[in-house]
Amino acid sequence: MTPHIERRNALLAKMPANSLAVVFASPMRIRSRDTDFVFRQNSDFHYLTGFDEPEALLVLERGARKQKSLLFCRAKDALRERWDGGRLGPVAAPERLGVDAAYPVSQINRRLPKLLMDKERLFMEIGESAAEQQVLGFLGELRMSREAHRAPKHLDLLGPLLHEMRAIKRGDEIELMREAARISSDAHHRAMRTARPGMGEWQLEAEIVYEFMRRGARAPAYTSIVGSGANACVLHYVENSSVMRDGDLVLIDAGCEYQHYAADITRTFPVGGRFSEAQRDIYEIVLSAQLAAIDACEPGNSLDAPHQAAIREVIKGLIELGLLEGDLETLIKEDAHKPYFMHGTSHFLGLDVHDVGARKQAKDWRTLEPGMVLTVEPGIYMFEESVPEHYRNIGIRIEDDVLITESGHEVLTKYAVKTVADIEALMSETGGDAF
Ligand code: GLY
Ligand code: MN
Ligand code: MN
Repeated sequence: MTPHIERRNALLAKMPANSLAVVFASPMRIRSRDTDFVFRQNSDFHYLTGFDEPEALLVLERGARKQKSLLFCRAKDALRERWDGGRLGPVAAPERLGVDAAYPVSQINRRLPKLLMDKERLFMEIGESAAEQQVLGFLGELRMSREAHRAPKHLDLLGPLLHEMRAIKRGDEIELMREAARISSDAHHRAMRTARPGMGEWQLEAEIVYEFMRRGARAPAYTSIVGSGANACVLHYVENSSVMRDGDLVLIDAGCEYQHYAADITRTFPVGGRFSEAQRDIYEIVLSAQLAAIDACEPGNSLDAPHQAAIREVIKGLIELGLLEGDLETLIKEDAHKPYFMHGTSHFLGLDVHDVGARKQAKDWRTLEPGMVLTVEPGIYMFEESVPEHYRNIGIRIEDDVLITESGHEVLTKYAVKTVADIEALMSETGGDAF
């Protein structure tokens, strides 16, 4: 059985009797006039089908006794396929995808209202796709018809069922995430080897994307951030348009998407190849915070434990540098790190870069479990006017991707160097064709 069939069966097993779940494929999106963005399948839809065409709908039907997976997809069309590429079509879909039946999308109007009848519950996501309106329209028509008593009585979000499955990664997914991590690590190394004063941030972005593409990861998992100097203090800086100066650091937050799975790595290094003393002071604090946070990535720990560990190290380091004054425990209680470290330390990672899965149960942070993958990404950003001149505009973040295992953790991005000594050594190697 393919993993997609197993996942559909697992989801059907979680659905109550007499319920229906619908999952929408992503639409094509216009980039400019008659030109589209590259298609990227909706992560839920991909997880359950492995089918990467737009204009498709997966329906999971859990009857009183039997259960079925049904797919609506684009009909074969020789002319359109000549222009836009092949379509699987509903005839071939059952054998290829293991669904019980497949129909052309044009039959949704006829078939979906019938599928809704006599179901107790309808599960779907809300807010992701314009096609949701069509399904809600059918539900509304049924509820206002003479057959109203046969309409579903409950409309539920699918996320809480499906996203808990996605939060725990299994064998094949972990392999893909290891590969995404490996490619992305090598891309950061390429950038470190290539960086020179006078180069444009966009040119380092090109090196990163070149490595992704060359290795079969056809897209970044998110827009790459290449911020040198003060740009590193803008958390989501994506202009990547400045020329990099000797003496500045450059922060690169970039990860590829490999067969739909994301990596998310940040490294910060000196444009000219050597850290200044002030840069190194701050760098060592961020690195010790990151290592302490990674140590806290253990099954049974709170999902918040890595962040708490990072905060403690950041505050301790800032006290040692004289940037914060007072007692460590008091400063921790007062959130004294916030002017310098204003974001969280972790998010889940998977098919989406900010992946799904509840972070809290009721009001409490949930517990880390084997199979979860999270980022560990503390940072310090010195943009306040009040910081001493030699620290001003230093922005440093170090980010790795960590799999929780039965016995502790595996750092998926462990290949990407991050100590001062290792970075300086790597940067002293020549990268072949500099820009
Ligand atoms: N690259 C986005 C993030 O680190 O969350
Ligand atoms: Mn990142
Ligand atoms: Mn991240």
